[in-house]
Amino acid sequence: MTNDRRNFIKKSVLAGAGLGLFSNQILSAEKENSQLELSNKNEPKSVIRMAFIGVGLRGEVHLEECIKRKDVQVIAICDPDKNSAIPRAKKIIGEYYGEKNKVVEYSNGEEDYINLLNRTDVDAVIISTPWEWHTRQGVLAMKKGIAVGMEVCGAMDLQECWDLVDAHEASGTPFFGLENVCYRRDVMAVLNMVRQNLFGELLHLQGGYQHDLRNVKFNDGKQFYGGGVEFGDKGISEAKWRTNHSVHRNGDLYPTHGLGPVGTMINLNRGNRLISLTSVATKSRGLHKYIVDNGGKDHQNAKVEFKLGDIVTTLLTTANGETIMLSHDTNSPRPYSLNFRVQGTQGLWMDDIDSIYIEGRSPKGHTWEKADAYLSQYDHPLWLKYGKDAEGAGHGGMDFFVIHSFIESLKRNEPCALDVYDLATWYAITPLSEASVAQGGQLQQIPDFTRGRWMSRKPIFALDDRY
Ligand SMILES: NC(=O)c1ccc[n+]([C@@H]2O[C@H](COP(=O)([O-])OP(=O)(O)OC[C@H]3O[C@@H](n4cnc5c(N)ncnc54)[C@H](O)[C@@H]3O)[C@@H](O)[C@H]2O)c1
Repeated sequence: MTNDRRNFIKKSVLAGAGLGLFSNQILSAEKENSQLELSNKNEPKSVIRMAFIGVGLRGEVHLEECIKRKDVQVIAICDPDKNSAIPRAKKIIGEYYGEKNKVVEYSNGEEDYINLLNRTDVDAVIISTPWEWHTRQGVLAMKKGIAVGMEVCGAMDLQECWDLVDAHEASGTPFFGLENVCYRRDVMAVLNMVRQNLFGELLHLQGGYQHDLRNVKFNDGKQFYGGGVEFGDKGISEAKWRTNHSVHRNGDLYPTHGLGPVGTMINLNRGNRLISLTSVATKSRGLHKYIVDNGGKDHQNAKVEFKLGDIVTTLLTTANGETIMLSHDTNSPRPYSLNFRVQGTQGLWMDDIDSIYIEGRSPKGHTWEKADAYLSQYDHPLWLKYGKDAEGAGHGGMDFFVIHSFIESLKRNEPCALDVYDLATWYAITPLSEASVAQGGQLQQIPDFTRGRWMSRKPIFALDDRY
């Protein structure tokens, strides 16, 4: 244990009863971490040699977040898109490393990632590819002993989730689920409040992906967002591949931004686990309407039948007796919201109205207070320490933290804060919700990817101000 960490724990313990739970979690996690460390093969490192598979709009954000760090050396990039993704990535690399940089390019088709993963000088890879590629690329990387940071989505089927878990367990290779919203400043402040028992015992949580994606799902094949109603081969960026999932699938296609953050608050896979879910979907109208409104009723895409219901609602139960509601709402005009609500026996926070109510503390009964003062008072130690470094990073700074956490855990050879069991659990929501919708809301059992170890695993996510 480092001196910094010891000091933080000491300060937390001295801070008194309010921090008791937090401190106990830290001490237990230290114990589990040190046990896990014994089984880790790699030595601590000062520099992580990093590669990137997929350098489209998301991959280039990760590339820039990594390349500006002194503790990362970018070794290679891989993307079959030689017209846009590769030149944009090379521009970023040139800005930081100059024209004579030695970053190697793999752009010979969709399978060239295999050649990248055959390299022996890569410590870690960040995968930001279309959803259907994540598992096979992540599994191969782990087999090769290359640590994986994997972007978010939902699995194609449950087997993919097990494949990731199996590859991690067989190889012992580190795996990080890059769920950046877990690091959102207000979400982390609320996590801090949960750990200090402000809301009492948690009962119900909500989250979701409520994002009008119509000009992401369609474009004109030239600009990334909107300007036309093309998708598939005639679209670019996410319209090229993501929209096809709306044609063929009906379920919560993007569960992680809602479930990841609330999952850390109720210690999923670490003393708690998901048990079951049921999903229902509205009819599908928004995407067809968008095509007709913007491309005309005679446009060839007006004939496409979209399977994805405009609003998919999923209810989950947990082993410890909480319920979670997730919403997936990407086809309609609406302001962005991840729909967070965190409610316990003593009070609740609601993201949409930026409000909080705590019995015995809020000045007036039955009346909301604005959450701002609470969010400042309970600002998470990580944000207090690294807020300045995160300035300018993507998504209000949280993209700094997700990369920071991945790199720091690799350097220290400590367990990843959001691990393969977390990602497998989040990813599993998609195929299970598809099955539930198809069966009229039939209850689905959620696999225990930890194979029973959720009962003894201790929380490790953001317990201090390190990463
Ligand atoms: N966490 C977030 O906030 C966030 C935001 C946006 C996207 N994402 C996720 O990031 C991932 C990528 O999304 P995006 O917006 O960058 O999409 P994108 O279409 O802009 O980029 C994907 C890139 O992958 C490349 N690619 C396709 N097949 C490949 C292969 N076999 N090997 C290597 N590269 C391949 C494409 O050419 C493209 O450049 C998705 O999982 C998406 O859901 C996450």
